[in-house]
Amino acid sequence: MPLVCVCSPKGGVGKTTLTANLAYSLARSGIKVLALDFDVQNALRLHFGVPLTDGRGYVAQSAHNADWSQSVLTTGSNIFVLPYGDVTEEQRIGFEHNLAHDPQFLLRGLNTLLNYPGLVIIADFPPGPGPALKAASELADLHLITLLADTASVSLLPQIENQRLIGSALNQRLGHYFLLNQSDSRRNISRDVTAFMEQRLGERLLGVIHRDESVAEANASQQSIFDFSPVSAAAFDIELIGKKVASLLNVQVGTGEVHTPV
Ligand SMILES: Nc1ncnc2c1ncn2[C@@H]1O[C@H](COP(=O)(O)OP(=O)(O)O)[C@@H](O)[C@H]1O
Ligand SMILES: [Mg+2]
Repeated sequence: MPLVCVCSPKGGVGKTTLTANLAYSLARSGIKVLALDFDVQNALRLHFGVPLTDGRGYVAQSAHNADWSQSVLTTGSNIFVLPYGDVTEEQRIGFEHNLAHDPQFLLRGLNTLLNYPGLVIIADFPPGPGPALKAASELADLHLITLLADTASVSLLPQIENQRLIGSALNQRLGHYFLLNQSDSRRNISRDVTAFMEQRLGERLLGVIHRDESVAEANASQQSIFDFSPVSAAAFDIELIGKKVASLLNVQVGTGEVHTPV
C-alpha cells in the first residue's frame, strides 16, 4: 500500500507538523493511515497524544525483530503511529548502519504494513539526505518536499532539482512534489518567494500553507489543526493538500480503498 515520504533539505520547515496533519486529513476522509517516524527526535508521536514519557518505538526493537508492525500504536480511529522511540546513540548508529548496508532491512521491517489492505503510510524524515530517506526512496510512491516561503529555500531548489537530496532521483513511481509552508502575505519577501515558487514549480507545487499561529498552538496542545482550529487558514490549506495526495495515490476517499491501475 502507498508510502508517502515527507522530506526536506532543511530542518524546522514543518515536516513533522505536515506529516501529522496530513495523516489526520486522510484519516478524516475515511482512509486508514500510519504515521511513521524516521527522525531520532521522536517528535511525530507527540502530535497524536502519545505522552512524552512513552519512549516505545520500532528502532530499539529492530535489532531483534525484523517486523516493525508490532511496535505500531493505535491512537484514534483510522490512525496508527509507528514512533522512532527513545534510543541510545549505539542503537541509532546500529539502525542507520542496517539501513545503509542491508538492502532488505527496511522492506522486512515494513513488509506487513506495506501489505495491509488500504493502509496509507506517511513517513516523516530528519532533514537532509540520510540512510532512511535513501532506503525509503526505493519503496516510496510519492515524495513531498517541504520548503519555507523564504530566500534560503529558493537557494536550495537547484540542489533538489539536480537530485542532490539523496544522490539519485527521489522516486520512480509518482515522483516528487513540493509543499511551501509558512507563506505570509503580509510580508513582502514571503509574498515574492511564494509567487516565484508558484511560477517556477508549476503543478509540482502541490500546496501552499499559510503561516498561522494556530498551527503552533495546535502542536503545543497535541491536537490536529482540524480539532484545534477547524476554520483556520492552515486547516483549509492542509485539507486541500490531503485531497490532492489522496487523488495522486488514487485512494478512494470515504472507502479507504486503493485502486491500483491495471
Ligand atoms: N504553517 C505554520 N504556521 C506557523 N507555524 C508553523 C507552521 N508550520 C510549522 N510551524 C511551526 O514551525 C516549527 C517547526 O515545525 P516542525 O514540524 O517541527 O518542522 P520540522 O519537522 O521540519 O523540523 C514548529 O514550532 C511548528 O509549530
Ligand atoms: Mg521534524
